[in-house]
Amino acid sequence: MSEEIYLEKKTGYAIMTINRPKQMNALNTGIVEQIDKLLDEVEADPSIRCLIITGAGEKSFIAGADIGQMGTPGYQPADAHYLITCGYKVYNRVEGLKIPTIAAINGYCLGGGLELAMCCDFRICSANARFALPEIALGIIPGWGGTIRLPRIIGEGRAKDMILRAKRIKPDTALQYGLVTEVFEDVAALRAGADSLAQELAAKAPITMAMDKEMINRSVFTYNDLTDSLALSYCFTTADSREGISAFLEKRTPDFKGR
Ligand code: HXC
Repeated sequence: MSEEIYLEKKTGYAIMTINRPKQMNALNTGIVEQIDKLLDEVEADPSIRCLIITGAGEKSFIAGADIGQMGTPGYQPADAHYLITCGYKVYNRVEGLKIPTIAAINGYCLGGGLELAMCCDFRICSANARFALPEIALGIIPGWGGTIRLPRIIGEGRAKDMILRAKRIKPDTALQYGLVTEVFEDVAALRAGADSLAQELAAKAPITMAMDKEMINRSVFTYNDLTDSLALSYCFTTADSREGISAFLEKRTPDFKGR
């Protein structure tokens, strides 16, 4: 695996780390493809009974999809469509893993980062974590399942307040909303807490664990319909998405025209 993403195997569990500090651990197409490959490795190894997903460093978990890649000259709606459908598949795969998963959220947890965290069974964070689905500011939608999973977890009203306003929330609010279950004082404490939770979960009966997960997931009617991801593909054909992405990269306020 590349230095930008790696899997460390511990006794009974593994840690998948995204390591792209210059991009705040944002996910580009190559990284999403590598997550898919690492999931093959995780599923093939019965000694891995829990998976932690985290970001390297102390600033960012994952700041979403890589906006720089989206703003590359020649980047086409078809390129976005490939990234979207690839992410759609990989995220559903994370949600459907038979082993328990923990998102250890060590800072910014934005856009596709929060969408990935919401595919995990546990979301725990450090006090510097910040959560948002800010896609509307870019002229696109949270099409990696955010419009489905966020209302499922925190309720429709709060999800609309976050998604339609690109509102960023802090750990105390995330805890109150049930978006996270535990907040640690700093990133070091978070990493120790994630290890300890992973050890606890890895010691449980694996068959029961898988059944519990599947039944709970079914009871909350969990799915990410491809239609929602295709709506995101549509967004990438609009002038507003080009404006939103350019505005972010040029560090200015976007001027959306509704076309
Ligand atoms: C690429 C990113 C990035 C991202 C930050 N950077 N987020 N690069 N993709 N998602 C880069 C910046 O361009 C900048 O590079 C460097 O990281 C530091 O960012 P700053 O903005 O200067 O730092 P700060 O003021 O601390 O703000 C950090 C931040 C902010 C809050 C994370 O950067 C931010 O709002 N980022 C965008 C988050 C976002 O909109 N995510 C959703 C993406 S869309 P330079 O080179 O200037 O130093 C998405 C949709 C999923 O996820 C589905 C798509 C297919």
